[in-house]
Amino acid sequence: MKGNGALVVYLMAQAVIASTGPDVVCPSQPLLASVSENVILQCHLVPPVDMRDMTVEWSHGHFNYTVLLYQDGKDNFKEENKTFTNRTSVSYQGLNKGDLSLRLFSVQLSDSGTYRCSIHIEKLQSSCYVNLSVAENKNNRSEHQQNTDWENNRKTEIIIYCVVGIVIILILIAVACRTEKGPECEFRSFLIYKLRSYTMCKIHSHHMFSLLSYLSICQVSTK
Ligand SMILES: *[C@@H]1O[C@H](CO)[C@@H](O)[C@H](O)[C@H]1NC(C)=O
Ligand SMILES: *[C@@H]1O[C@H](CO)[C@@H](O)[C@H](O)[C@H]1NC(C)=O
Ligand SMILES: *[C@@H]1O[C@H](CO)[C@@H](O)[C@H](O)[C@H]1NC(C)=O
Ligand SMILES: *[C@@H]1O[C@H](CO)[C@@H](O)[C@H](O)[C@H]1NC(C)=O
Ligand SMILES: *[C@@H]1O[C@H](CO)[C@@H](O)[C@H](O)[C@H]1NC(C)=O
Repeated sequence: MKGNGALVVYLMAQAVIASTGPDVVCPSQPLLASVSENVILQCHLVPPVDMRDMTVEWSHGHFNYTVLLYQDGKDNFKEENKTFTNRTSVSYQGLNKGDLSLRLFSVQLSDSGTYRCSIHIEKLQSSCYVNLSVAENKNNRSEHQQNTDWENNRKTEIIIYCVVGIVIILILIAVACRTEKGPECEFRSFLIYKLRSYTMCKIHSHHMFSLLSYLSICQVSTK
């Protein structure tokens, strides 16, 4: 009895689908991709219907060039536009569950635009649209640009540190040579040692700070 009830519900559901057809649903947001990426254009049926024995067609642009035609249980390559040859597929397992998503491999700039996902169930035809926008290595280029900018900023920063550091050290040497009296502060050798490492452009503000504080301690203790 329970089995029969389920069967009745199933047949009624099939009857409803046969009369109105399932909804073909596409994402409302456009899909963004870079040249040579692989993308998946989403499209599915609500409620899910097994489409393996039906006709599914994906087409592109104003002139509805056929991107992929699934018919009689297989991909009908002959009807497809050459631009998309060997670059498209739908999943047979997906069709089973009403998933008509199109895989498009190695996208080109000319692949941009509106795609139509449509189904033909007997005399019914319904469809939805997905937009694809392909950019020329957009992420790649901006990332590279950012890296270059960062490197340039870093170089400028290091040069400024070096120049400021050398000037400060020269001033300190001049001061140190005049005040060099105390036995506990060996300024000259200390500064020459520091100067060598600083001229190798390894100046950091905390080094500078420790040098300054060291010198001020020495100056205080020599007085
Ligand atoms: C796709 O793009 C067309 C033309 O730019 C626009 O009219 C349409 O609303 C877009 N559709 C979606 C689902 O983004
Ligand atoms: C492409 O398909 C759309 C939607 O079905 C239709 O309105 C349009 O006339 C078709 N264009 C051509 C050139 O067949
Ligand atoms: C295939 O599509 C391209 C545009 O993507 C178009 O220029 C060409 O005429 C189409 N070829 C056929 C046979 O429809
Ligand atoms: C598509 O793939 C088949 C088999 O791998 C190959 O023979 C054919 O030349 C390819 N067509 C294009 C346009 O790349
Ligand atoms: C950027 O794209 C070019 C061409 O596709 C590639 O040769 C290069 O390796 C890419 N660079 C990075 C950082 O991804």
